[in-house]
Amino acid sequence: MKVTAFCGSPRKDGNTMDLLETVCAVLEKEGIETEIVNLYESDLVGCRACDRCYVNKDNRCVFSKDKLNDYVNKMMESDGIIIGSPVYFANVTTNVKSLIDRGGRVSRANNNLLKYKVGAGVVAVRRAGALPALDAINYFYLANQVIIPGSSYWNLAMGKSRGEVAEDDEGIKTMNDLGRNMAFLLKKVRS
Ligand SMILES: Cc1cc2nc3c(=O)[nH]c(=O)nc-3n(C[C@H](O)[C@H](O)[C@H](O)COP(=O)(O)O)c2cc1C
Repeated sequence: MKVTAFCGSPRKDGNTMDLLETVCAVLEKEGIETEIVNLYESDLVGCRACDRCYVNKDNRCVFSKDKLNDYVNKMMESDGIIIGSPVYFANVTTNVKSLIDRGGRVSRANNNLLKYKVGAGVVAVRRAGALPALDAINYFYLANQVIIPGSSYWNLAMGKSRGEVAEDDEGIKTMNDLGRNMAFLLKKVRS
């Protein structure tokens, strides 16, 4: 079993990466392979609503100048998906928005590519706006028939500068519990 985690921060090794590494370490301990894909220099463009994905039905976005299709392939190959984002004005970053808009559109245009995968979002936040950002990721999963595990709190941790989330004990506990719950759910769904 494999989980691919996408890190949507423009900071190469920021708080979001710390959180994803925490969740992935638990998954690995549970015997699940993980890969973290860093979007920090991807510059994904937004969905252009051309709906070519509904015409071509080839599991791809027609705009192939960025890496979106590589990321869709990684999602298709995985049993589980994690999308991590820092909170930007109470929402996800531009790269994460592109990933969920274009990835979600391609999935829905192709008979629900992501159906029955297990998906989770995690967010790093300085102070406020974490829940709308987490909601944005969860809405992507819910409209794509992806099954979402819970944790002991909503999947957020607080910190501003690089590394600060490590000091948020409750946030780190939430990530550890998320990793365990995601592993539990994956094993049930894939058994
Ligand atoms: C453009 C921008 C917008 C931000 N908006 C918010 C916000 O709405 N709420 C908040 O609490 N923090 C906000 N932040 C702070 C980041 O969410 C916070 O520093 C986070 O830990 C960064 O994670 P990273 O290290 O993974 O990039 C913003 C930061 C930037 C650069």
